[in-house]
Amino acid sequence: ANPRPLDLNNVQGDILEGLGKKNEAFFFFQIKAGQASPFREDLRSFIPLITTTTEAKKFHQCIREGKKEAAKQGKPFPMIENSGVNISFSQKGLVALGITDNIGDDVFKQGMLADASGLGDDLSDWDADFKKEIHAVIIVTANSTSVLERTLDHIKSIFRVGHKDTTIQEVTRLLGQTRPGAEDGHEHFGFNDGLSQPAVKDVDAGVTSEPGEKPVRQGVILLGREGDDGLLIPGQPLKSVTRPSWALDGSFLAFRYLKQLVPEFDSFLEANALPVPRIRAPGDPTGAELLGARLVGRWKSGAPIDLTPIRDNPAFATREDFRFDPANQERCPFAAHVRKTNPRSDLDKLGGTEIRRIIRRGIAFGPEVTTEEKKAKKSSSNEKLERGLLFTCYQSNLGNGFHFMQESWANNNQFPPKTAATPPVPAPGIDPIIGVGIGTPRQMVGTSPDISKSNQELDFTAKWVIPRGGEYFFSPSISALKNTFAA
Ligand code: HEM
Repeated sequence: ANPRPLDLNNVQGDILEGLGKKNEAFFFFQIKAGQASPFREDLRSFIPLITTTTEAKKFHQCIREGKKEAAKQGKPFPMIENSGVNISFSQKGLVALGITDNIGDDVFKQGMLADASGLGDDLSDWDADFKKEIHAVIIVTANSTSVLERTLDHIKSIFRVGHKDTTIQEVTRLLGQTRPGAEDGHEHFGFNDGLSQPAVKDVDAGVTSEPGEKPVRQGVILLGREGDDGLLIPGQPLKSVTRPSWALDGSFLAFRYLKQLVPEFDSFLEANALPVPRIRAPGDPTGAELLGARLVGRWKSGAPIDLTPIRDNPAFATREDFRFDPANQERCPFAAHVRKTNPRSDLDKLGGTEIRRIIRRGIAFGPEVTTEEKKAKKSSSNEKLERGLLFTCYQSNLGNGFHFMQESWANNNQFPPKTAATPPVPAPGIDPIIGVGIGTPRQMVGTSPDISKSNQELDFTAKWVIPRGGEYFFSPSISALKNTFAA
């Protein structure tokens, strides 16, 4: 049961609501050796800057109403200046602060560097900074680079960065920004992103009646709440967890620095384009577009292929009311990215998906593909042109959420289990976007919408998403920050 009513003023805003943003900075730092006490003092001055869920909700409400009003008056809606601030700590950060309670999450405790091989990462691709000790990350969001910089400068001044008595040492900083024009909200392969999120019970109003996806209990995302029941490894009884009292209403943040090879992905789609009629009606996809949609499970607009399998339909972009046919991949391949990461009805008979749900808050980074890269069908080796996704997600248990999703679903060619498939399926294959075949070939079946060809394998010769680093963090409640982290 829930310990006390949830107070959205006490939960950091990125978790349950998201910080409105065009620009985002991830400022990774260490607490200087021997400086834990003065750091705590600085943290006390920093806490009032943190955007709470209530504030983030108010901001979004204000934008929605402003847009409606502007539309009524036939006026363009002006960009609202805004900045959001959140903070999260790694296990090493907890140790640096002398917080030794067992938080009850082994994946968090070992850190992402130690977990990297389990996730399928090649450590030689990791940026050297993510092999260093990182104690915490401050997330800053804004609607312009100038507001972002100003907020970052203010934060740095609180921790006296640049002065002899500073309490922190920057490790690295990553900057994300939404893509320009019509690509706003789309990741670099061109697909609308951040659409399907679990609705959280009694937090996200008005979603309970949606068919298909049910709201998740608060404890799936927040520690210590109803639904934060323990670690679930298939075939084993639920392993219960005990949380320290200060962990209540915090959430684990998995951060992934993912480079995307866009020209390579596009040329793979061209080379393996699915057969489509030579004469196409307006709105009909090319064979490459159809293949792209079959790999992701949604068209570029976001429309789920399970609802509109033949052609994109932007009117369906935000629809979540789809349920896969567990016996069939005619409408959507079993291994398609959205089916691998949220198999929905595929798991109805296996306990459902609730415990595996995560809330994603990623942002694109890096410039658009250049004409030279397009021509060469190859990403430039110039680091300045590197692009991809700064992927973040929140959950109450990393072993149930991100870690499990990557290791046991995306990388596992046998998932989802397909004993009842018609026709019988050899193995669904790995997630074509993020999957790494560990000891299995990089391939999937079901890319063809023609059911008689459902078992044809498609081999991925290369990877298009290269993990460059990351870390696991804990994003504490405001009261825990005041009474435990800064005390
Ligand atoms: C959904 C792209 C990495 C988990 C999606 C969607 C796209 C996408 C286009 C569909 C739109 C939406 O519902 O938001 C990408 C790209 C990635 C990436 C390009 C890497 C560069 C990841 C990672 C994970 C993940 C690392 C977790 C291990 C999910 C989940 C969904 C999703 C849970 C929602 C599925 C659903 O509920 O329908 N992703 N993603 N993604 N992705 Fe990813």
